[in-house]
Amino acid sequence: MKLVHKILDLHDELYSYRKNNQSIGLVPTMGALHAGHASLVSRSLQENAVTVVSIFVNPTQFNDKNDLAKYPRTLDSDCALLESLCNNDNQLIAFAPSVEEMYPEEDTRHFSYPPTDEVMEGKFRPGHFNGVCQIVSKLFMAVEPTRAYFGEKDYQQIAVIKRMVEDQQYPLEICPCPIIREADGLALSSRNALLSPSEHDIALNISRVLRESLDYAKIHSLKETCKWTINNINKVEGLEVQYYEIVDAKTLASLENWNDADGIVGCITVYCGASPVRLIDNIRYK
Ligand code: PAF
Repeated sequence: MKLVHKILDLHDELYSYRKNNQSIGLVPTMGALHAGHASLVSRSLQENAVTVVSIFVNPTQFNDKNDLAKYPRTLDSDCALLESLCNNDNQLIAFAPSVEEMYPEEDTRHFSYPPTDEVMEGKFRPGHFNGVCQIVSKLFMAVEPTRAYFGEKDYQQIAVIKRMVEDQQYPLEICPCPIIREADGLALSSRNALLSPSEHDIALNISRVLRESLDYAKIHSLKETCKWTINNINKVEGLEVQYYEIVDAKTLASLENWNDADGIVGCITVYCGASPVRLIDNIRYK
């Protein structure tokens, strides 16, 4: 595996792949890599001649400065995990730029894709998706990937990025990858490292209730299912739902009835613990 910090060095590394028309995979991350990221990287390694894993804690997507300061930064162990995933030195490039490298000047571009970027996370984290689009578009320009891989835990993020790709006409394929869960059901997230063992046990009730809501939904309305899910999670001491919305799987527009869309997904954000950790998860109803 190669580690590069500069966009120009990345161009040098990718030059021969581009010249020979070989495919380039991109896995954008903010580091603190875990088995969920590893599954994206492994898929990209299988599907492309070379894979770039970007490791960059992007300041423009944090609306809370404390959250940005607290975000884990673990480049050495991230590189060790990536090393363990590849067997050919040339196949994997870790790209870990500085803030100055990615933002030599303030990024004043504004991306807007309503309703996809306005609902749920968009409502509770103003500016978040604009920051995500800013950095992801810069990574697309630096890497020019054939395919880019994103985890479905951040369901709304994928929906927004798909809109940006259509809007900006980036010639690449977005590859959504299934959520990786711990054996007890908790969706893997870099933020899980912030949970104490007892908070971890509490947090697994989120995926449990979401799973149970699939059965409940079979004989109840969409609105009843939404309310039931929120109540059953809030019943668990130490958990507080920020929002749960059952939405159109493509546009993320709110729905009234199960028949209102072909694809339907429920997206949740829950605060867990005393100095609360913000956890997200989602479940597909159809
Ligand atoms: O999902 C993440 O880790 C980030 O939002 C991303 C896509 C790497 C952009 O900073």
